[in-house]
Amino acid sequence: MRFLVTGAAGFIGFHLARRLLDDGHAVLGVDGMTDYYDVGLKRRRNAMLQAYDRYEFAPVMLQDRPELEALVAAFAPEVIFHLAAQAGVRHSLAHPDTYVSANILGTHQLLEIARKYRPQHLLLASTSSIYGGNEVFPFEEGQRSDFPLSIYAATKKACEGMSHAYAHLWEIPTTCIRFFTVYGPWGRPDMALYRFVDAAVRGRTVEIYGMGGMLREVTYVGDLVEAMTRLVSVVPRAGAPMSSHGVVDSLSPVAPWRAVNIAGGNQVSVLEMVDTVERLTRCNITRRFRSDHLGEAVETRACSRLLHALTGIMPATGFEEIVREFVSWYHDEGYRWARNAVPTVPETC
Ligand code: NAD
Ligand code: UGA
Repeated sequence: MRFLVTGAAGFIGFHLARRLLDDGHAVLGVDGMTDYYDVGLKRRRNAMLQAYDRYEFAPVMLQDRPELEALVAAFAPEVIFHLAAQAGVRHSLAHPDTYVSANILGTHQLLEIARKYRPQHLLLASTSSIYGGNEVFPFEEGQRSDFPLSIYAATKKACEGMSHAYAHLWEIPTTCIRFFTVYGPWGRPDMALYRFVDAAVRGRTVEIYGMGGMLREVTYVGDLVEAMTRLVSVVPRAGAPMSSHGVVDSLSPVAPWRAVNIAGGNQVSVLEMVDTVERLTRCNITRRFRSDHLGEAVETRACSRLLHALTGIMPATGFEEIVREFVSWYHDEGYRWARNAVPTVPETC
């Protein structure tokens, strides 16, 4: 099949594109190579994809509609995975414009193109952050998610809403996939696992927000990609009946649209993350505690029953195994990309 993957040089886009290529598919990767973190890491991931002759790449921002449209017209993708976005919860507090532009305007352009070129299935990367400060655990796809805590979450919520309207109006089968804190090799230098391993190895101090008490359901990137590839053939149909598996499906009553959580099955606190990294790297980490966690959910925990009903799988790779694999990659080459790791929350937030 022919897949368009936006954000292909990003952490998850890279793993997904590589898996699709390994499975024998053709992939058009589009990525604007933004400088949110070291572009060298994106180039390196992309160079690995370019070793496949079924991979084409275009360094294009989604907001550049004519260029994007010409690419899609020429490639004629059957399935679109839309992962390109300005990610990062904390960074969005200080840089809202970037998020509105990349996520809302960028997604809008992509939806307009999908409307014209009609893929068999459009799958969009959404986030656990859209559940906001919801305290009904575990998070189920059908529960209310109207109260985003960060600009990032608000833009992702807007993308889900826009995609639903396009699915309804133009009959574009659409799945919004809500990822939960994804870790693994080739991971993002702004995220906690990279920061903690890098600080351990270099003897730097880590900043721990929310006094380390925040809880995250974390997901191994390999499990995520497996689930994403299985969802390709689970195409939502308008007006389909509720699932018969005893699970409340999030299918829309008026559009071929649904939301699905993909989460890893392990919940860890930030303190446990630091302790595990310390143990597995055999390096001491100096901790600097901060009480603030503005814009962030205190806890994320997913219901994965819908994913299981739709695909038969239930991700479960343990956190310790994820850290081991990450540390091994960090020592091989990951250490190179920390220099430009973005600062997180300014003291004044
Ligand atoms: P990433 O930053 O590594 O990848 C995103 C890629 O998109 C980058 O390579 C960037 O250059 C590109 N990009 C950004 N804006 C663009 C634009 N307007 N046009 C073209 N390219 C653009 O992030 P990631 O961790 O791989 O995340 C992938 C997707 O998954 C994002 O949509 C993110 O919001 C979502 N997500 C990630 C996580 C996680 O834990 N990593 C969790 C929830 C949701
Ligand atoms: C991650 C991604 O960065 C988002 O793009 C994504 O949307 C989100 O997952 C999601 O699941 O929706 P986050 O959970 O904040 O966001 O992931 P990390 O950046 O790895 O942070 C994990 C935890 O560690 C958070 O509680 C954070 O406050 C904490 N942390 C992070 C620190 O205490 N110190 C740091 O230096 C970095």
